[in-house]
Amino acid sequence: MAASPDHLPRPGPAAPGSDLRRCDADSLAAAMRSNRDETLGALARLGSDAEAWALPYLRIINPPLWEIGHVGHFWERWCVRGGLSTPRSSSLLDCADAVFDSNLVPHPTRWHLRLPSPQQTAEYLEQVMQSSIARLEDPPMAAELGGDDPLHMHRLSLFHEMMHKEAFTYTWQTTARSSPVHRDGVPSGGAGAGHVLAAEPGRATIGCDPGDGFVFDNEKWSLPVEIDSFVIDAEPLDCGRFRDFVASGAYLDERLWAPGYFAGLRQSGRVMPRYWRIRGEAEGRWTGSRDASALGRSVCSSGIEVRRFDTWHALEPARILVHVDAFEAEAYCRWAKRRLPTEAQWQYAVERLPGFRWGDAVWEWTATRFHPLPGFAPDAYREYSAPWFETHRSVRGGSFATPRGMIHPRFRNFYMPDRGDIFIGFRTCGD
Ligand SMILES: [Fe+2]
Repeated sequence: MAASPDHLPRPGPAAPGSDLRRCDADSLAAAMRSNRDETLGALARLGSDAEAWALPYLRIINPPLWEIGHVGHFWERWCVRGGLSTPRSSSLLDCADAVFDSNLVPHPTRWHLRLPSPQQTAEYLEQVMQSSIARLEDPPMAAELGGDDPLHMHRLSLFHEMMHKEAFTYTWQTTARSSPVHRDGVPSGGAGAGHVLAAEPGRATIGCDPGDGFVFDNEKWSLPVEIDSFVIDAEPLDCGRFRDFVASGAYLDERLWAPGYFAGLRQSGRVMPRYWRIRGEAEGRWTGSRDASALGRSVCSSGIEVRRFDTWHALEPARILVHVDAFEAEAYCRWAKRRLPTEAQWQYAVERLPGFRWGDAVWEWTATRFHPLPGFAPDAYREYSAPWFETHRSVRGGSFATPRGMIHPRFRNFYMPDRGDIFIGFRTCGD
């Protein structure tokens, strides 16, 4: 039996909120309300100015107003109206089923819908919140779903809202707009910057067990993995180390990259991470020759700037690196003669290595494909995990923009390896 989540380690510098996987109905209601207040605060800061809500179509984001309305519709579907396939009652908002159901509305279509106004959306969310809190005493799907937690769908809906809040935040980074939620971005490294931790051979346990409280379907059920000794960075990589990689001309060195990815780099002319630029140059590009040493001299003499939301800042070497995809992380590891940790190594480190900083800066790439654990079966929200196995990469930890109640050492997140737009970085390991 795995250790109870109550006894699992917490992120270092930033303590999470109450344990939303186990808390009682009153605590859950308080968390629902405080989380929603933050969502509505962002909505209020954007106001009714159509310009503030209008973002260009991108495959990797949602229209912000649609995203907020979709959060309300998810709550209403699972925690007010109930029903696995057919809701048992109509929506509080006439158009909600037609516009906010992510299974029915194709992604590109979301840009062309007649959405409710921000004011109507806020009112809908408030009505749904009141109804959802009222149903904490009588969850509509408790008997249907079985299990030992009648509040399962309320917890899932809260986590779903938290995930969309983080997506809502990175949307403003992606589109170079002023964020209505966060301004400062990723924090700096701490006392463990540059340190490595040594792990003895042992067993890591991925996933959870019955009795561990709320679990996502991809955490069922626990998988023990025997691992050999290894060393791992105490903190995720910082910008200074990645700047050295860039200055070495690494983005010009074919030997470091997956072939298809390198072809894309050559085609685009990108010689550094997204949202970086040499002062005076266009984002990611360099107008000089393709000579690595000349690029290095330019990086050192002109300096690097990094965009946080709508503002460019001089690169701060001690800041944790963010916005690199898995291919960039692996190229760095080849250059530094290191590796990405496997999911099992990350799990071992988070639970057994004191000084392992995680969960407050960036999500972290692992070397492991996202895969089902033994006994996996999709939960009622069938689209959560099952469509994404094997194509996505296992991602662990949590970012500065992840609501604290979401952070959990056994949480298995997942992204396509080419996603660098999210708040993600990495740490390295070795023998
Ligand atoms: Fe969603």
